[in-house]
Amino acid sequence: MKLILLGAPGAGKGTQATKIAERYGIVHISTGDIFRANIKNGTEIGLLAKSYTDSGKLVPDEVTVAIVKDRLTWDDCKNGYLLDGFPRNLYQAEALDTFANIDGVVNINIDPNLLMDRLCGRRVCRECGESYHVSTLNGVTTCARCGGELYQRKDDNPETVGERLAVYNEQTAPLIDYYGKKGLILNFTGSEAPADVLFGEIVKVLDKLQ
Ligand code: AP5
Ligand code: MG
Repeated sequence: MKLILLGAPGAGKGTQATKIAERYGIVHISTGDIFRANIKNGTEIGLLAKSYTDSGKLVPDEVTVAIVKDRLTWDDCKNGYLLDGFPRNLYQAEALDTFANIDGVVNINIDPNLLMDRLCGRRVCRECGESYHVSTLNGVTTCARCGGELYQRKDDNPETVGERLAVYNEQTAPLIDYYGKKGLILNFTGSEAPADVLFGEIVKVLDKLQ
């Protein structure tokens, strides 16, 4: 299965992606994670991406498309993959059409008023990438899954989140219509449902796509 995960920053893409990838034995490819790993390792791509991710703007399309195009040729993609955070604008979507055949686009709709709190309160595990929210951590600073240290992403501050939401509304939201016209959109509501409940809804639909 070849899937795209669409949704605003904080909609729960990463949270659902790990669960979906595990259940269907497909690879989770997050362009945001790829950029963060490159920044951490001080690579050329990381040096270029840093100013964009820190300010909430999109990394230039040519760089991002080239990374994904190459990544999809790896052996582990043969059983399928889940793209999280790509494509993010019309240019990227049209580019993807030239080198991939997507089976479905999981779109997580969410009340925009929830996003600022979700993102500014998010803590992420340095080791396994699991996401938490401060409101449920009760002061715990390590990951319940692997014991790794929890940290706050540099772009999870009110100013950068504001910019990320604006970029989403202007450039990424039109993709719902783009994939809707292709008959690929699978819509879900992520506002009220806890992550596990939302995952159950997604599985019901994806099981039929397999
Ligand atoms: P990226 O890493 O993709 O960030 P994002 O799109 O802003 O999305 P997030 O990862 O912040 O949110 P999420 O939807 O994954 O939410 P999560 O599951 O963590 O991109 C970062 C940057 O990289 C971009 O700004 C850009 O600069 C660059 N970039 C990436 N891709 C690019 C591309 N294609 N082109 C150009 N540039 C690109 O959940 C959020 C919080 O909510 C957590 O605290 C979680 O615990 C909580 N939560 C999740 N689900 C629920 C639920 N159901 N109920 C209650 N709480 C929940
Ligand atoms: Mg994410």
